[in-house]
Amino acid sequence: MIFRPLNDRGVIARWQQYLPVSDATPFVSLNEGSTPLIHSPKLSAKVGRGCEFYIKYEGLNPTGSFKDRGMTVAISKAIEEGAEAVICASTGNTSAAAAAYAARAGITCVVLLPAGKIAFGKLAQAFMYGAKVVAIDGNFDDALRLVREIGETEPIAIVNSINPYRLQGQKTAAFEIIEELGDAPDFHVLPVGNAGNISAYWMGYQEFHQLGKASRAPRMIGFQASGSAPIFHNKVIENPDTIATAIRIGNPASWEYATAAVTNSNGAIDIVTDEEILSAQMWLASNEGIYVEPASAAGIAGIFKSLDPARAAERRFPEIPEGSRIVCTVTGHGLKDPDVAKEQCGSVIPAPAEKNEILRRLT
Ligand code: F0G
Repeated sequence: MIFRPLNDRGVIARWQQYLPVSDATPFVSLNEGSTPLIHSPKLSAKVGRGCEFYIKYEGLNPTGSFKDRGMTVAISKAIEEGAEAVICASTGNTSAAAAAYAARAGITCVVLLPAGKIAFGKLAQAFMYGAKVVAIDGNFDDALRLVREIGETEPIAIVNSINPYRLQGQKTAAFEIIEELGDAPDFHVLPVGNAGNISAYWMGYQEFHQLGKASRAPRMIGFQASGSAPIFHNKVIENPDTIATAIRIGNPASWEYATAAVTNSNGAIDIVTDEEILSAQMWLASNEGIYVEPASAAGIAGIFKSLDPARAAERRFPEIPEGSRIVCTVTGHGLKDPDVAKEQCGSVIPAPAEKNEILRRLT
């Protein structure tokens, strides 16, 4: 079956000239990408000195995270190459995307997840999209090692970001930002887990810079959770831990690419605590109406940390020059992880079904 899109929506249809696809490639797409770049007057004001702050809202992709951009390319290429099954390790979002695109393509999907450490929304997605869900007694790094081992002996395509098509698809978010802003921003801020996304953005920014579509590439600033910060500490973390389960990773696959992105862009990798992550998540939802999962708030938490004069000595975020444009990617939708919200929620106001009783309780 050869899939062709009805319109130019979807990452491959929109950006095919910059992607490793050909006439023989089916487009397995759910119209992903083209996500909103939302200007934030409140964050712009917080940064101050004429800076403008934008949020790239990747939670609005079809399965609720940026992973769809890479998965449309990885699954399309797997189909082109004749694969009948795909496998990935995941902290939840990659597995949701793999399961959805495999379902669309009509092939088998196997996902290896760290038992007990997947947000419920993501687990629900893998089941509903019909994946074979294996929960291993180990963490994400163990799951990825096992996926590599299985891929060596079994006829199954690996769709983790060690598959180069994934980063190719993910780089298109940088293209969209350049197209929308008319140039690259001065800073690009984002959470870092397995380190594929920071590498993909850097690839996309460099590519458009080299093609003359942008006058520069931004400084790449990545934030890891303080309990899962191998790149920051420059050592593998054996037992990573954080409430932001999506980035609970101790040995990132794209470590070297990410380090190169940070070094070559004159950027930085910094850390934020779980407390800072949860507080940024709540701030973003209640001040901007943008509800993201905890990991996705790491970049926003990082901005707050960087603006706090009391933290000046420890921060790695460079000085932000006057008039800078800053883009922060928020990577996944808040509804993915309802349990974390439950703990943060206030209590409901019980009331009888009577107008005056309700109004009395609201004063
Ligand atoms: N934010 C979210 C919501 C994620 O799911 C991930 C990674 C990241 C940020 C970090 O991106 O790995 O490219 O540095 N999730 C992977 C997964 C590991 O399995 O879904 P990265």
